[in-house]
Amino acid sequence: MREPPTNLVARGMAPYPANMNILAQLQQHFHEALADLAGDNLDAGGLTEFADMIRPSQDPKFGDYQANFAMPLGKRLDRPPRDVAAQIVERLNAAPGLGEICLPPEIAGPGFINLRLRDDWIIAQLMHAAADGERLGIEPANPRRKYIIDYSSPNVAKPMHVGHIRSTVIGDALYRILRFLDHSVTSDNHIGDWGTQFGMIIFGYKHFRIQEEYEKYRVAELGRVYRFVNRLVSYFEGKQRLPELKARIKQQEETLARDEAAAIHGDKKAEKSLRQAKRSLDETRSELDELQASLEAVERDGELSAAAAAHPDIGKQVREETAKLHAGDPENRQIWKEVLPVCELEIERLYERLRVRFDHTLGESFYQDRLAGVVQDLLDREIARRSEGAVAVFFDDDNPDAPPFIVQKKDGAFLYATTDLATIQFRINEWHPDVILYVVDHRQSLHFEQLFRTARKWLGVENVELTHVSFGTVLGDDGRPFKTRSGDTVGLFGLLNEAKRRAEEVVFSNDEAKDGERERPAKDTDEVAEAVGIGAIKYADLSQNRTSDYVFSYDKMLAMNGNTATYMQYAYARIRSIFSKGEAELGPISVADTPITLEKPAERALALELLRFGEALAAVVSDYRPNHLTNYLFALANRYSTFYEQCHVLKAETPELKRSRLALCDVTARTLRQGLNLLGINVVEKM
Ligand code: ARG
Repeated sequence: MREPPTNLVARGMAPYPANMNILAQLQQHFHEALADLAGDNLDAGGLTEFADMIRPSQDPKFGDYQANFAMPLGKRLDRPPRDVAAQIVERLNAAPGLGEICLPPEIAGPGFINLRLRDDWIIAQLMHAAADGERLGIEPANPRRKYIIDYSSPNVAKPMHVGHIRSTVIGDALYRILRFLDHSVTSDNHIGDWGTQFGMIIFGYKHFRIQEEYEKYRVAELGRVYRFVNRLVSYFEGKQRLPELKARIKQQEETLARDEAAAIHGDKKAEKSLRQAKRSLDETRSELDELQASLEAVERDGELSAAAAAHPDIGKQVREETAKLHAGDPENRQIWKEVLPVCELEIERLYERLRVRFDHTLGESFYQDRLAGVVQDLLDREIARRSEGAVAVFFDDDNPDAPPFIVQKKDGAFLYATTDLATIQFRINEWHPDVILYVVDHRQSLHFEQLFRTARKWLGVENVELTHVSFGTVLGDDGRPFKTRSGDTVGLFGLLNEAKRRAEEVVFSNDEAKDGERERPAKDTDEVAEAVGIGAIKYADLSQNRTSDYVFSYDKMLAMNGNTATYMQYAYARIRSIFSKGEAELGPISVADTPITLEKPAERALALELLRFGEALAAVVSDYRPNHLTNYLFALANRYSTFYEQCHVLKAETPELKRSRLALCDVTARTLRQGLNLLGINVVEKM
């Protein structure tokens, strides 16, 4: 533990443990108090669950925190909940420690235990935080764990899409937060630089490249060639799907006719199944319409239709190009070596724009010469077996229908699964992690489930946590997966530029309404617009519960009121402006020496919220959801806003009060700045 801040000691205050996570401290005391209730009906694990049932109170009437385990615990022990609560409270009062933090706990209603923090304790904690610079009193994690985070991980030959931004932004936030808590963290961008997309690029490079264009701007030409091949491949795949879709429609029409007949008799169940049948038919029909439209689009396009006629088995040829690359064909290797850096440069530009860096970028190609060994080892240990020429891991012991994890195809090709197995083995041997996180969209859930099960059988890594940090889809206004107009990387930069352009509009239109400080140097404007625009996009991603889909909307993400980065950045700049007015000089050192007083409820509420920063960070780590932190920052900004409405700062009644309130402002600004920083979002001093 760190030294207690000297100013507290100097004033003779108790050197409270500098653990900023209030909730964790309270839980600790409850664990101890509950310990000897363990017995026949209840083991220690069960007790933990009860001790953890402490929540911040919704209403200050019930104190600051409330423990509400007495009801379920009473039931379990077959005792009146109030008795249980009374026994616990008695124990809490007798044990040392809690009394420093809280006033004596009160029992309310059927057995709630209400906890009210002592003002002097809040003040001491806050002053400790105030004196602690950027760390704000947050203690390093104990135990310290070793994390590997796999995020972003785009397929580099393919244009990146918003889903990759989401992975990048969530992964980067987790990386920053874990690091801030002093965990050991390694980021590894597992780029797809070896898969079928390279077959497409190689095929396109050989058949459709326009050398002049390629020399002028490689990225654009490779992008064009990739999209061209991709459309042709999808064209033929689509044509193959056509008969199947038509057959499905016919079948669904028959079902519908049958259901219609049944529903005439007013049968509720039949009506429900009729509605369902109608919906399914509608869906398949619109799928068919869409497919037909896209096929027609290719056929109408002179260039594409000519290419389609010339390469009717393009799908197979693309696969062959990939296979040749993997087999070491010199020409394909040469092309790969030439185009890979071009692709990488493009994603690098995006990372620069997002201000994201990786410790390692070990893509799929890095593992290629290990794949045969992985498969052999799985066979030797009888974890995988041959089946119809392919090699796969089966999970059919408990479920005969469980899909197999295929690690080698009939034609000898290795798969995404094989590479991921080689990767997990490498990471474990090389970096000895306690945890590996994969920040990848939810459509890959089955893959990771199979990967983790296989890895456990194969590597016996009981003590390594393997987690798929999955996330939902970014949707457009129409409720369908969001696509930039051209659906490519240029589109992704376009997206960031558009956010920046709109950010400038938002910031400046507000300026016009404000006082006369319109004139600002261009560089400043640019910096502000970039921070606000990119911040808005990141925050919109992070403030959603990651598992849900969300609708991409510039207006919402740039709203000046509400749970947005813009609102938080404004709050920050407004606080800073109090200090820049020159009337309030208060550096970090003097902040630490400023005695804080909590006179009004709004001051106390703000102070308490400030102390919850550590709680929010711990919550993020507990389930890898950065929205705990955005929720916290939003609550903090709101508390501040109430405080600012109700308490004069520069015009405070006494100089002491003014200093105390300025200190609250300062810690609030630093917490907002650090909180946003941990989300990868910049603040600006003036907006
Ligand atoms: N490249 C994959 C994609 O774009 C994501 C890779 C995620 N990481 C992993 N180890 N599988 O879908």
